[in-house]
Amino acid sequence: MISQQSIQEIQSRIDIIDVVGSFVKLKKRGTNYLGLCPFHNEKTPSFTVSPGKEIYKCFGCGKSGNTIGFVMEHEKYSYVEALRWLANRYNVVLEETDTSPEYKAQQQTADSLYIINQFAQGFFSEQLFDTDEGQTIALSYLRERGFRDDIIRKFQLGYNPSARDSFTQTALAKQYNPELLVKSGLVANREGSMYDNYRGRIIFPIHNQSGKVMGFGARVIKSNDKAPKYINTPENEIYVKSRILYGSYFARTAIDKADECLLVEGYTDVISLHQAGIENVVASGGTSLTTDQLRLIKKYSNNLTIIYDGDSAGVKAALRGLDLALDEGLNVRLVLIPDGEDPDSYVRLVGAQAFNEFIQKEKKDFILFQLQVSLQEAGNDSVKKSQVVNQVAESISRINRAEDFTRRQDYIKQVSGMLKVEEAGFTNLVNTIIRDRISREENRQRQKQEPEPATDSVEQSTPESQAGTQLLNAYEKHEQAIIRCLIEYGLKPWNDQMTVAQYIFQELEEAPDDYSENIANPVHLKILQLYKIWYHDGLEPNYQSFSYSEDPEISQAVVNLAVIDQDISPNWKKHYEGYIPTREDLYRDEVRSTIAYLKLRNIHRQMEENQSEMEKSTDIDQQMISLKVHALLKQKELEILEMIKVGTVIFK
Ligand code: GTP
Ligand code: MN
Repeated sequence: MISQQSIQEIQSRIDIIDVVGSFVKLKKRGTNYLGLCPFHNEKTPSFTVSPGKEIYKCFGCGKSGNTIGFVMEHEKYSYVEALRWLANRYNVVLEETDTSPEYKAQQQTADSLYIINQFAQGFFSEQLFDTDEGQTIALSYLRERGFRDDIIRKFQLGYNPSARDSFTQTALAKQYNPELLVKSGLVANREGSMYDNYRGRIIFPIHNQSGKVMGFGARVIKSNDKAPKYINTPENEIYVKSRILYGSYFARTAIDKADECLLVEGYTDVISLHQAGIENVVASGGTSLTTDQLRLIKKYSNNLTIIYDGDSAGVKAALRGLDLALDEGLNVRLVLIPDGEDPDSYVRLVGAQAFNEFIQKEKKDFILFQLQVSLQEAGNDSVKKSQVVNQVAESISRINRAEDFTRRQDYIKQVSGMLKVEEAGFTNLVNTIIRDRISREENRQRQKQEPEPATDSVEQSTPESQAGTQLLNAYEKHEQAIIRCLIEYGLKPWNDQMTVAQYIFQELEEAPDDYSENIANPVHLKILQLYKIWYHDGLEPNYQSFSYSEDPEISQAVVNLAVIDQDISPNWKKHYEGYIPTREDLYRDEVRSTIAYLKLRNIHRQMEENQSEMEKSTDIDQQMISLKVHALLKQKELEILEMIKVGTVIFK
């Protein structure tokens, strides 16, 4: 757990314009900043950031939040990950508070596993270079395959002897914990008898970003149909398969320099290419790419070139990674190595220079490649062809970041040419898919937030109609408006005697500290009560106090209700030489009318109750009372309506 002090330290240093500005090009407009929304595609900017309120809001797609929320949404981070990112950016040293015993135990296990792996790596390398068996069986094999000694040492390759338990015995003699040895995957335990898991295999250590050994791949030397070619470390505290990118420790600076990451399938492909001087290369381990792996790549470069051998399994695995890669905003290209070769054998065959030239010449844009393959498969089958159109449109729709807009247009142009379909129609198809996806995501989000389903689902098909607050009923809006007034104007004077906050509290309180008569939403109630406590403690509550609340419900509610003024355009100002009052100037009117609406709603509710009582009642006296009550309520209603008419109503 990150300590509360650290979180506050981060909050105090956060600059929302700086943070958002590092992902979105922002222009100053009045008091706010405006840019193209990074969460949906648009040509005219409707993404607004308010430095004062530390809130962003998109008037196009409806996404909104505070600075931490932006980092979470944009980088797909968890709350804690976003805090770490911000802490790093603003040089805040994160303080971890007492962590749970489970977490501590897990950290300890992880530390121990790293130590065991380091020891094992040393042992296996020694066996490879310094023992007869290692030299004659393993080192000779590696040399025969053409690996130079300096490369074998650089990648810390090793050998696990064929004896039953030479590693196990050495490790146990050194007091390594038997349970952890089993957990590391290096040692197996059958009915209390422990032995080496990777007997007679060549060992490929797998390093993490900082060069520590997370696990191993162990390859058979003589091909044997029964045994699997590779055995890998089982999942444990430090070896998580979906996050492994073999070679990334050795490749990172080269990837950075070349601004391109080459991706191959196998360990030996990585090592061979390194030996040939091509160092910007990593391996996925033969499975389709995961989001974690793609993010790792994206840290170093946006350009991913996947190099696969011609066998269809590799291509299919690559194609499966495509949509994810596009989601991450990577430029993905693909190179097919000629039949029968893999990168390892091919670079040996043609040499480094020709290999590089081949890659640069042959690399195909992934979407266009996918299209080519699918079109070939479809042949003249028109049903299949239309499936291809849909599939490619789906892929293109993934290129959905604002900064990639031109790239998407280029694709649409090229692809509609290749498919011989009309560009306009194809554009429409892509846009429809994007819209559908956005609204599906929003629905999912909403369902997560509020367990009770929205009542009117009719509107849900178009994002425009649901982006706004339309789905909220009028009551909800009135409540939001009053809270907004409180947070925005609470500290301003209402009259000589009191502040706006005091006035609002006085008006809403039916009984001391009880607002439930006027405020129905429990989160709004919480905010009111919190405001009151803070206010009486002499604090000055504002948007930030609530938006960075520990309670995510409060934070989201306040972000939702915040109005970011759409600024008056400069042309307007020229037209109207005179003074244009802003919401700020008219705050008393806004407060007055908001309270009035809220009271009106309360009166209407009472009228309804009264009405139904009157209908139910058979007692004439009772009915007379109800009639009187009705007249009284009607009178109150008129007064309030009058009050609304007098004031300038600014009501959203
Ligand atoms: P060489 O055959 O020595 O060139 O090894 P390679 O690394 O090129 O292997 P290959 O092309 O057959 O497979 C590519 C990658 O898939 C390997 O590096 C492994 O990560 C993975 N892989 C291949 N076979 C197995 C297996 O039997 N088990 C597991 N777990 N992974 C495998
Ligand atoms: Mn190979």
